[in-house]
Amino acid sequence: MFFFLRSPSAAASFAASSAAIRAVFSANSSLKTSFSTLSQLSNSLQNEKNEKLNQVSQESIQKEQKQVKKEKYVFAQLNEKQKEFLDEVIRVDQAGELGANYIYQGQIFALVHKRPELKETLNHMWEQEVHHHNTFNQLQVRRRVRPSLLTPLWKVGAIGLGYVTGSISKEAAMACTVAVETVIGGHYNDQLRTLMKEFTVDAIEKDNTSNLIKNPDFQSSEIEHLKEIIKEFRDQELEHLDIAIENDAESAVPYWLITDVIKLICKSAILTCEKI
Ligand SMILES: [Fe+2]
Ligand SMILES: [Fe+2]
Repeated sequence: MFFFLRSPSAAASFAASSAAIRAVFSANSSLKTSFSTLSQLSNSLQNEKNEKLNQVSQESIQKEQKQVKKEKYVFAQLNEKQKEFLDEVIRVDQAGELGANYIYQGQIFALVHKRPELKETLNHMWEQEVHHHNTFNQLQVRRRVRPSLLTPLWKVGAIGLGYVTGSISKEAAMACTVAVETVIGGHYNDQLRTLMKEFTVDAIEKDNTSNLIKNPDFQSSEIEHLKEIIKEFRDQELEHLDIAIENDAESAVPYWLITDVIKLICKSAILTCEKI
C-alpha cells in the first residue's frame, strides 16, 4: 500500500478517489436529512389536516346537537327593545344596500364607456349589491318594517355620488368604494356584535310547559338566519374593498379627502336611516 502511494500519480488518484467517496457519503447524509425533513413536513401537514377535519366534524356535531336541543323548545317573543333594534337593522341595511346598488349603477354609467376593462369588475360588485338589496327587501316585507322615509333622497344621492366619482376618474370611483365598504363593513360588524350579545330569548320546554328556561345559550332561528346573512354580506363588502384597493383606489387625488368626506356622508346616512 505505502509502496503503491509512493508513486505521485497513484497518490493523486488515491486522494481524488477518497474525496469522491467522502462527497458521496456527505451527499448521502444530506439526502437522508432532507428526506427526514420532508417526512417530518409531510407528517406535520397530515396532522394539521387531521386536526382541521376533527375540528370541522366536532363543529358539525355540536351544531346538530344544538339543533336537536333547539327543537325541544318554544321560543319567547323578542322583547320591545330587541324588536326595535331588529327593525332598525332591517331598515338601515335595506337603505344601505339600496344606496350601494345605486352608487355602482352611477359608476358603471360614468366609467364603463371610458374604461371598458372595468366593466366585468364593476358588474360583479353591482350584482352582489342587487342580491343584498333584494334580500333586505324580502326581510322588510316579512317583518313588516317600514322603509326609510328618505328613500328618494338616498337614491338620488347614491347615484349622484357614483356618477361624480366615476366621472372624475377610475381611481376616485375606487376610493369611493373603499370609503363606502369600510363604513359598511364596520357597521355590519357592530350589528353582529349586538345580535350575538343581546339577542338570546327565553324558551319553554315543549314537553314541560311550566319549565321556563331563562337565557338559553342559543338564539331563535330568525336571529341565526339574520346573522348568517349579515356575515355573508359583510365578507362580500370587504371583498369589494380589496378589489378597489387592487384597482388603484389609493392613487386617487386627494385620496384622504375623497374617502374622509364619503365616510362622513355614509355614517350620517346610517344614523339617519335607523330612525327616519
Ligand atoms: Fe352590499
Ligand atoms: Fe359592497
